[in-house]
Amino acid sequence: MSAIRFLTAGESHGPCLTAIVDGLPAGLPIDTSLIDRDLARRQGGYGRGGRMAIEKDHIEITSGVIGGKTTGAPVALRIENRDWENWREHWAVGDLPALTVPRPGHADYAGMIKYGLPDARPILERASARETAARVAVGALAKQLLAEFGITVGSYVERIGAIKAQIPDLPQAELWTLAETSDVRCPDVDATVRMRAAIDAARTAGDTLGGTFAVIATGGPAGLGSHVQWDRRLDARLAQALVSIPAVKGVEIGDAFENATKPGREVHDEMFPDNRGNVTRITNRAGGIEGGMSNGSPIVLKAAVKPIPTTLTPLRSVDLATGQSARTEYQRSDVCVVPAAAVVGEAMVAFILADALIEKLGGDSIVEMKR
Ligand SMILES: Cc1cc2nc3c(=O)[nH]c(=O)nc-3n(C[C@H](O)[C@H](O)[C@H](O)COP(=O)(O)O)c2cc1C
Repeated sequence: MSAIRFLTAGESHGPCLTAIVDGLPAGLPIDTSLIDRDLARRQGGYGRGGRMAIEKDHIEITSGVIGGKTTGAPVALRIENRDWENWREHWAVGDLPALTVPRPGHADYAGMIKYGLPDARPILERASARETAARVAVGALAKQLLAEFGITVGSYVERIGAIKAQIPDLPQAELWTLAETSDVRCPDVDATVRMRAAIDAARTAGDTLGGTFAVIATGGPAGLGSHVQWDRRLDARLAQALVSIPAVKGVEIGDAFENATKPGREVHDEMFPDNRGNVTRITNRAGGIEGGMSNGSPIVLKAAVKPIPTTLTPLRSVDLATGQSARTEYQRSDVCVVPAAAVVGEAMVAFILADALIEKLGGDSIVEMKR
């Protein structure tokens, strides 16, 4: 069983999002401005839709933190949906706009069939990635725990549609700083310009774009996760966490796909003694994980994000109310969510690493963990 766990609740246009995080150690100082900062980072990114102009996400902690520190009790988080005011009356009487023509690529069709519903509205209200705001808040708590142990998690965008960045050969922290100054969260300044242009072209064409992002964790110890059972493997846990993000359809650990094309001697990260008698490496193609355990090198994960399903130009579908061919109707939507998905990716990775760290160190308080 996991050392920490969380659940979220809340609909896209309901009053609020809620998360409960259970298992955080006592005595962890919580800075809510760091949570708000990550919420704002998730809301940003060139290519987001009109909703982001309405929402200004802000965290409220309603349990588990007293005097700015965790108590060991479940931490309850709440983020208000500002858009709720526009939906309040419809919500009360249940006359929300119906959607009977499922959008290919969204949860609409499978959800209507699974739950026996004539209208996809209840499905899309929960399937909407608005829920990822709650995950980002949870991840921001996990990052604060990791920071106590010198572990940092960051991300950047590597590709949007056909535009692939050339990631500069710079120290990790500098790449993150560059990504923060790019509105597509890409450390390649030239690619940033071309990515923006690609998003503009997709918007003009009434289309959407996907891409890839990398999440990197530095400063962690060797030995998180374990080789002894499938569900204790760190790579497996991280992959599940990333694929659980809406629209993320692929995960790569280190240079996995390139490694698959090369012979072993060009892939495995050879080891050398350093001058203090420790092991050092000059490559990290394994992405910091061997045998389901962290090996002390930076943990490097990449994720593929599909182009989001709601397109301004309609797609062919079927009206399930009539059984006739129909075109999808446009719902207010984003054009490209790769920069935002990268921030959600950081949160999910931070959560899994925090879980693995608590599992490894044990203890009910930060003091015990450090001991
Ligand atoms: C941050 C973020 C924002 C998203 N915004 C939209 C959106 O505005 N419109 C849309 O159709 N899909 C959006 N998506 C993707 C859908 O939520 C997702 O494709 C859908 O729930 C179906 O799940 P699946 O793609 O994982 O199969 C977004 C995803 C993320 C991570």
